Amino acid sequence: MNAVIELLQNHRSIRKFKPDPLTPQQTEAIVTSAQMASTSSNVQAYTIIAVTDPAKKAELARLAGGQAYVEQCGLFLVFCADQYRLKLATEHNGEAFHQNTESFIVATVDAALAAQNAAVAAESLGFGICYIGGIRNNPGEVSSLLGLPELVYPVFGLCVGVPDQEPGIRPRMPREAVLHPDAYSEEAVREGIRAYDEITYAYYKERTGGRTLTTWSRGIADKHKQPVRAHIRPFLEARGFRLN
Ligand SMILES: Cc1cc2nc3c(=O)[nH]c(=O)nc-3n(C[C@H](O)[C@H](O)[C@H](O)COP(=O)(O)O)c2cc1C
Repeated sequence: MNAVIELLQNHRSIRKFKPDPLTPQQTEAIVTSAQMASTSSNVQAYTIIAVTDPAKKAELARLAGGQAYVEQCGLFLVFCADQYRLKLATEHNGEAFHQNTESFIVATVDAALAAQNAAVAAESLGFGICYIGGIRNNPGEVSSLLGLPELVYPVFGLCVGVPDQEPGIRPRMPREAVLHPDAYSEEAVREGIRAYDEITYAYYKERTGGRTLTTWSRGIADKHKQPVRAHIRPFLEARGFRLN
């Protein structure tokens, strides 16, 4: 269709990297692209920590639950939702700073939009990427390691580097389950889950030479049958976020 759409539709996460660093120009192009993402009311409520120090990357790999590619990749970008800058700007103008769940969503969405621009820019330069939500396993330690102030939290990391593997593209949910004409259709969702379970069963079986026989909904059930990262809310509150 066109080069951008082709790039987007060929995305797959990379989890094995060659150790080559990025040039300053490449990093600059990726971060400038991130900064040009749309941002709610131009608040730009995010900060990016670019980690290249091998010792810090190794520590982050450990804190993310032992994900070796965090250490291997040339550049590890940590996208942080940042309300601290908004607080400084508000106080700079002599006003008291207020925040709530709405401003928390704004900052988190801003960080995610910037990250996805960075991801696409990196892929357009031939790099592979992998988001790392695993850093929220230990958000306190990650925040200390990166020197994050109050009202800033690490949303996720992004590995960027030269791919050292060629994984296949992961199939997505059938379109009808995701795109609903005019109103939400529970029927389409239920049918989508059924159909996607068949697709993912065949996909995992093929990808693992028959060793993994499971479905998408089984994986979702295993993940969600208990609360996920229940430590996040107390962590955020301890960092000064008000989720009211
Ligand atoms: C916010 C976010 C956090 C993620 N965290 C991790 C992670 O910690 N480790 C990992 O290996 N992949 C992680 N991923 C990658 C997803 O597993 C991957 O995007 C998804 O399975 C779809 O596969 P694909 O990117 O290859 O198409 C994350 C993706 C997102 C968007």
